[in-house]
Amino acid sequence: MTQADVDEGRRKIDWAREHMPILADLRERYLDEKPLDGVVVGMAMHVEAKTAVLAELLAEGGAEVAITGCNPLSTHDDVSAALDATDGVHSYAEHGVDKDEYYEALDAVIDHEPDVTVDDGGDLIFRIHEEYPELLDGIAGGCEETTTGVHRLRAMDDDDALRYPVFAVNDTPMKRQFDNVHGTGESSLSSIAMTTNLLFAGKTVVVGGYGYCGRGVAKKADGLGANVIVTEVDPRLALEAHMEGYDVMPMNDAAERADVVVTTTGNRDVVTRDDFERMKDGVVLANAGHFDVEIDLDALNEYAVETREVRDGVREYETPDGRRLNVLAEGRLVNLATPVSLGHPVEVMDQSFGVQALAVERVLEDGYDAGVHDVPDDVDRRVAEIKLDALGIETDDLSDEQHEYMSSWQHGT
Ligand code: NAI
Repeated sequence: MTQADVDEGRRKIDWAREHMPILADLRERYLDEKPLDGVVVGMAMHVEAKTAVLAELLAEGGAEVAITGCNPLSTHDDVSAALDATDGVHSYAEHGVDKDEYYEALDAVIDHEPDVTVDDGGDLIFRIHEEYPELLDGIAGGCEETTTGVHRLRAMDDDDALRYPVFAVNDTPMKRQFDNVHGTGESSLSSIAMTTNLLFAGKTVVVGGYGYCGRGVAKKADGLGANVIVTEVDPRLALEAHMEGYDVMPMNDAAERADVVVTTTGNRDVVTRDDFERMKDGVVLANAGHFDVEIDLDALNEYAVETREVRDGVREYETPDGRRLNVLAEGRLVNLATPVSLGHPVEVMDQSFGVQALAVERVLEDGYDAGVHDVPDDVDRRVAEIKLDALGIETDDLSDEQHEYMSSWQHGT
């Protein structure tokens, strides 16, 4: 990396920092009180500008921060270089690493012997549990950013295999109802549009999964004038999608109609060979779920007679009958892993990372037992209050009488 790369990374970080009022508010206190003095924070997250602002905030609070990526394609190398040049931060993240290099970078973070881990997807925590069990007793706690990571941790907790406390940052209202819904919705569609330069209006967009992310993708695609079809396995969410006005059907049927497919399930094999066999020529396939397992690329590779890179970030698969199916970002997170992806909008990550920073402090303070924990509600409310304040939005307060009324069971007709 050259000095020009470092400068460009710094420019990107500074732009993000200017638009993150929640982290700015926390920074004032961090610089003054140094709440993380002497703490080592190990992080495995998407290393781009917003994450860099979080890492620097933790360092400004007194922590030594060691960071690497949580996806081989989502690192911005210039940002990683600028971060590595920052006092108190070591960045091992690199774009386009292979599996061995990815795990070597995780190991480099673990070499710092973190007191707290901050994960997006759980790879750092799992690596420590599997390869470095001798470090587990020295770790005060962790924070997990995304739905898939929380799922993995809960499964681990159910098996009594999780050896330190972890906050499910993903599950807070300030994260999930904004980041997953609006962040994934806007950034996935932006990335698809920028990567393909194709229109959404009038197209049929199939959204796999109608959870928090799927809801966001469906709503934004609808707003752009697309016809939206939702696929689901949960009957209540399928009904909700139906009542929002979307068509709901199995993927096999939706596949025949799709111009664009976006998977958001956190599950594997959502789009399979049966679907590839039915798809229209020119269909665009993208995944917004955490891992690259939602579109069955092994099956597609087997089925296709030829494949080639038709644009940066777009791989075309030609079927035996001459149709062309276009997969974006190798089936990895489309909003983070195409060459033009920027991840979620800055303001959304300000909220998520406000919760992260306060959760790091709290997990150090409160002595939680090993296992997955909800982030305390006052942390989440505090982040919302700072944000409203920054936006200049005032709200009503409950009066004493209203408080009393809401907490009493004696009021009837
Ligand atoms: P969620 O649990 O709210 O939603 C997932 C939905 O998929 C559920 O409603 C589930 O019933 C449905 N589903 C599961 N298997 C299915 C199948 N075979 N076919 C159709 N539907 C199926 O989870 P959330 O928060 O929406 O997250 C989804 C994924 O996106 C996770 O992997 C999460 O880590 C990831 N994520 C990605 C982000 C990004 O930047 N792209 C941001 C936040 C989360």
